[in-house]
Amino acid sequence: MTEKSGAEPAYKDYIGVFDSGVGGISVLHDLKRELPQENFLYYGDSANAPYGEKPIEKIRTLTMNSVDYLVSQGVKALVIACNTATSAAIPAIREKYEAAMPVIGVEPAIKPAAEAFPHGRILVMATPATLKLDKYTKLSKELAWEAEFVPVACTGLAGRIEKGNFDAPDMNALLEKLLGQYRGKVDAVVLGCTHYPFIRKQIQKVMGDIPLFDGGAGTARQLRRQLLNRGLLREGPQGVAGKCVLKSSLDTDAEIKLYHEMLQCIS
Ligand code: DGL
Repeated sequence: MTEKSGAEPAYKDYIGVFDSGVGGISVLHDLKRELPQENFLYYGDSANAPYGEKPIEKIRTLTMNSVDYLVSQGVKALVIACNTATSAAIPAIREKYEAAMPVIGVEPAIKPAAEAFPHGRILVMATPATLKLDKYTKLSKELAWEAEFVPVACTGLAGRIEKGNFDAPDMNALLEKLLGQYRGKVDAVVLGCTHYPFIRKQIQKVMGDIPLFDGGAGTARQLRRQLLNRGLLREGPQGVAGKCVLKSSLDTDAEIKLYHEMLQCIS
């Protein structure tokens, strides 16, 4: 896509959606379903993915660089469609940009899971960084009287999902290694990383047919509320879908093709 030059930014009426890589495309799918008339500019930092196994300060810097890029493109709102980046950097992003535009983050869907399974045992899959940061530790403590949470740091999983080919034997072997010991011992699973909704089927193959929770739909409703509050909802002609542009810091034809395939496969 050629970018316009001059005063008018290229993506003025777009919502900027960010993830460390392909994961946020699962959230983008929910955003498009909730707000079909909106335009979206998706940016995945696949050149630096995965984030969840990096030092927190590095995650903060990479996240802010990507968010600055989206803002420089003129977006009217920001969705940080990454649990790891939200946990590490949302206070700094809000401080810098929230006066100018809505800033929406994501968090592991442990509340809806606990409400659905009171006093249940809930496995929480997330990156090592997400599980160690305050956002998760505080939330899980607040809800500890409602359910028992079993956090599982899924080292290697987001990086593997970045490569596609989800039905390959090595994916099943990795999931078996991470999750196999919990089969039959938990009531539900929270997908606390936006990469994981792409492998729902593969997770259920290992864990059995138990409910999986993710935060995509809740994030989309939150975005709608914020756009409405600020008078930013786009009123396009009824029934005409907005535009959707997918970009990656790994700017190769193969990577952009993978992004489009990911959006197709989750739709
Ligand atoms: N998709 C991201 C999340 O929701 C993280 C994946 C990564 O480690 O980069 O946590």
